[in-house]
Amino acid sequence: MGYMVALNFEDGVTRFVDCASTDTVADAAYRLGLNIPLDCRDGACGTCKLFCEAGTFDGGEYIEDALTDAEASEGYALACQMKPRSDLVLRIAASSDVCKTKPAPFTASIASVNRLSDTTTVFTLDVAEKLAFLPGQYVNIEVPGTGQHRSYSFSSAPGTPAEFLVRHIPGGLMTGFLATATPGTAVTFTGPVGGFYLRPVERPVLMLAGGTGLAPFLSMLDQLAATGAKYPIHLVYGVTKDADLVGLDRLNAVAAKLPAFTYTTTVGDYVTQHLDGAPTGAFDLYLCGPPAMVEAVRTHFDTAGIKPASFRYEKFNPSGV
Ligand code: FES
Repeated sequence: MGYMVALNFEDGVTRFVDCASTDTVADAAYRLGLNIPLDCRDGACGTCKLFCEAGTFDGGEYIEDALTDAEASEGYALACQMKPRSDLVLRIAASSDVCKTKPAPFTASIASVNRLSDTTTVFTLDVAEKLAFLPGQYVNIEVPGTGQHRSYSFSSAPGTPAEFLVRHIPGGLMTGFLATATPGTAVTFTGPVGGFYLRPVERPVLMLAGGTGLAPFLSMLDQLAATGAKYPIHLVYGVTKDADLVGLDRLNAVAAKLPAFTYTTTVGDYVTQHLDGAPTGAFDLYLCGPPAMVEAVRTHFDTAGIKPASFRYEKFNPSGV
C-alpha cells in the first residue's frame, strides 16, 4: 500500500513523495532525489529528525539519544525509521535549497475562464503532470508571453481540477492575459508553496478572508466538507464592494455538507466588526487578505487580549500572494 507524503521545507516549498508502507520516508525521498538531512540511517544520531503535522506512522527502531520519548509524543519522528500508515504531512528542518530541491515545474493548459463578477474571474487548468498540494497553498504561474510570474492560491481542493480566483487589476498582467485566453492555451507554473495550509482540526477554527483571499479557504473548506470536522468552523469574508463578493454558492454548498460550518459576509467594513459567530475559548485562526487587513486583525486581537491557540496568515498584494 502506498501513501502520499508531503515534505514541507523551511522556505515554504513542498514536495510530495509516494511512500509504500514498507518503505521509510528517507528511502522514498532519496529515490526522488530529495536530499533530506541524514547521517547514520540507523536511528542512532537524530540528524533526520522531523515533525509530523498530520497522519499516522510506524516510528521504527531508534535509541533515546536520537529521539526522546517526549519528542516522540509531541509528534517528532526519524525519517530514516518511520514508515507511513496513512498520508503524511511532515515538516523538514532544512530549506529546499539545502536538500537540493526546489518547487516542482508543471505544464498545463487553460481549461476554462469564467467571469464571476465585474471584479473577479475564476480560471481552471488541465495539468499534464500529477499535481498534489495542501489546501491553502499556492503556485507561481508564468503569465504567458511576459516572462513574469504571479502567485495564486488554489481555490479548489486537492484531487479536483486546479482552480484559481483572480481579481481584476487595470493593466494587470494576468487580468490582460485572461481577457483573451481560450481553452487549450499553454501555461506553466511551479509549486506548490506556502506554510498557509490547513492543519488537522483539533479545536474550533476561525477563518478571516479579505477579497480574493477567499481562495485558499474555498480549498480548505471543500477538503473539510469531504472529510468532516468535529469542531465548529466559522468564516468571516469581507470585501470592499458588492461586486467583490463571489463564491457564495460554494460556501452554501459547504454549509449544506458540513454542519459544523457557518459564515458571515461583510461589505465595506472591517471583518473584526463581525466576529459574533467566532468561537469562544481556544481556537485556531487562519487569515488571508491584503497586508493592511492582516495588521488590523492582529491589532484587534492584541488590543482585545485574545490569543488564538495558533495564528496562521497569508498576506497578498493585488498582483499576487
Ligand atoms: Fe541518524 Fe536517522 S539518520 S537517526
